[in-house]
Amino acid sequence: MIGEGIITKEPVIRIRDLVAKYGELTVLDGISVDIYPGEITVILGGSGCGKTTMLKNMLRLYEPAAGSVTFWGEETLTMGENEFYEVLKRTGMLFQNGALLNSISVYENISIPLEMHTNLSRKVIDRIIRVKLDLVGLGNAIHRLPSELSGGMKKRASLARALAMDPQILFCDEPSAGLDPVTSESLDTLILNLKHQLKMTIVIVTHELASIHRIADKIIFLDGGKMLFNGSLEGAKRAGISQIDHFFEVGRF
Ligand SMILES: Nc1ncnc2c1ncn2[C@@H]1O[C@H](COP(=O)(O)OP(=O)(O)OP(=O)(O)O)[C@@H](O)[C@H]1O
Ligand SMILES: [Mg+2]
Repeated sequence: MIGEGIITKEPVIRIRDLVAKYGELTVLDGISVDIYPGEITVILGGSGCGKTTMLKNMLRLYEPAAGSVTFWGEETLTMGENEFYEVLKRTGMLFQNGALLNSISVYENISIPLEMHTNLSRKVIDRIIRVKLDLVGLGNAIHRLPSELSGGMKKRASLARALAMDPQILFCDEPSAGLDPVTSESLDTLILNLKHQLKMTIVIVTHELASIHRIADKIIFLDGGKMLFNGSLEGAKRAGISQIDHFFEVGRF
């Protein structure tokens, strides 16, 4: 709507009628939402409501039972493995538990996606690993094992691994869970830098109120398998939805 000075962006991810199941258990029952480029979208909802499931279904770590998920305008659920692999290469995922391999160093953990997905020389891979670790402030922990890192450092190392392939979309599941407020804030600063400096699209699951206020452009609120709200943070607070009001009042579900 150029006349009104509003630039209408195309969604980078478009989800329609997504149904997610584990066997007979239906966790998500018809979710439709658009995710816009260059924005931070926060997925909110009580424990067990299906936030991680939503991320895993979008990335086909679990195959959705029904629905449509497009990335950059292309339907992904019907794509063959090779074609979908090309989509995955443009995304990064920071898992809820970090999922670092414990028996190898931080350096080697980050080299894995680069060795698996690229034909880059050892020298270039070495350079990329060092740049990513500097980006997350872990340049001095490069040869440590994950067991020798603090909780916040583990999250940073996982983030460096998720960023190894220069993703255009980054998915983060509870990046600040279990971190002290200062570490959590510095992780948020890092995430905001990725958005502002690298124009990354970021989808985050978090229930930390301070974090949500610092980073969220958009909110997706899940409850009982449905999406109760999608829109801005201010909109979420004004929507008059009791579950959301309760969350923002007491900081938990
Ligand atoms: N691999 C699985 N097999 C069977 N059921 C599962 C599996 N993973 C999750 N579930 C169930 O699906 C539901 C949603 O789980 P999910 O992990 O998506 O919740 P969540 O919103 O991420 O919760 P939390 O905030 O605790 O991380 C829960 O009832 C959970 O028990
Ligand atoms: Mg979860």
